[in-house]
Amino acid sequence: MRVLGIESSCDETAVAVYDEARGLLAHRLHSQVAMHRAYGGVVPELASRDHVRRLLPLVREALAEAGSDPTSIDGIAYTAGPGLIGALLVGSGFAAALALAWGKPAIGIHHLEGHLLAPLLEPEPPAFPFLALLVSGGHTQLVDVAALGQYRILGETLDDAAGEAFDKTAKLLGLPYPGGAALASLAEQGSSGRFDFPRPMLDRPGLDFSFSGLKTAARMALRSRVIDDAVRADVARAFEEAVVDTLAEKCRRALRATGHARLVIAGGVGANRALRTRLLDIVRTCGARLYFPRPEFCTDNGAMIALAGAKRLAAGLLAGVGMGARANWELGAL
Ligand code: KG4
Ligand code: ZN
Repeated sequence: MRVLGIESSCDETAVAVYDEARGLLAHRLHSQVAMHRAYGGVVPELASRDHVRRLLPLVREALAEAGSDPTSIDGIAYTAGPGLIGALLVGSGFAAALALAWGKPAIGIHHLEGHLLAPLLEPEPPAFPFLALLVSGGHTQLVDVAALGQYRILGETLDDAAGEAFDKTAKLLGLPYPGGAALASLAEQGSSGRFDFPRPMLDRPGLDFSFSGLKTAARMALRSRVIDDAVRADVARAFEEAVVDTLAEKCRRALRATGHARLVIAGGVGANRALRTRLLDIVRTCGARLYFPRPEFCTDNGAMIALAGAKRLAAGLLAGVGMGARANWELGAL
């Protein structure tokens, strides 16, 4: 199975070609971050228009890099949701047009399924079943993955997603949008112990998360104080440690509760080095193994969508993955 994958759910236009036998043949990405930065966040209408401009050239480049022409493509996978509806409609309309022109199936992929399968792009992929920690700008979930398409949500955030909390706190620290990675760099220069941030939801059982209080803690720490570089770095450090502690402890509980021997980490915050280091400790103490995609496949990309499409096509799992776009779509509903 050779599948063209298209991702356009937010502010990245990304295209890839994945082959079941040969692996990833090509991937191309255009990030709109610079365009949205002036507004401090993603402007949906600008995002949609830019996807329209970028998609066709990226598909041409990816096909050329893969040495593929339309006849050698078995299907067109695209992100059907969740995401910004206008941005999703560009990708789904484009995929539908290609499918019609080439006489191939269009396969609508759940964006989070793409993220949690992304470690399968790596040389030593995890086998099913596994526990997945999905940490992105829009979602924070612990998922019990029994097999392709069989997902049970064990816990999720009750308010902000982990990436959203990173971005909002980064904004308080004066870092440009999206500030997650910049906040992480700043935290490396800071020292522990100066600020005491809470560890939300750790004092009660269960696997849900809450991150909005940490943003408030950051605001309080910055209030009525001369804010120099050292204060900013120490606040970043305290914030990151609180997020990492919380995510790690919930992963430990979920590994114990499910008995899974594999933990997969995916989504943009999965690129965070402190989180990866801590989770390596956790899996060691639980007798499990940690799997994560390379950083460029943690954040939004077309490779994970092409891979998910190829796996679904190969397994004949195409029910409910037809044309269309859905802004809201629960992963558990798959
Ligand atoms: O998965 P993703 O690319 O997009 C969504 O589907 O949301 O995740 C983007 C999020 C942003 O909030 C960004 O700030 C965060 O991932 N992020 C990081 C790091 N790199 C990206 N957060 C913490 N540390 C990082 N190194
Ligand atoms: Zn994403």
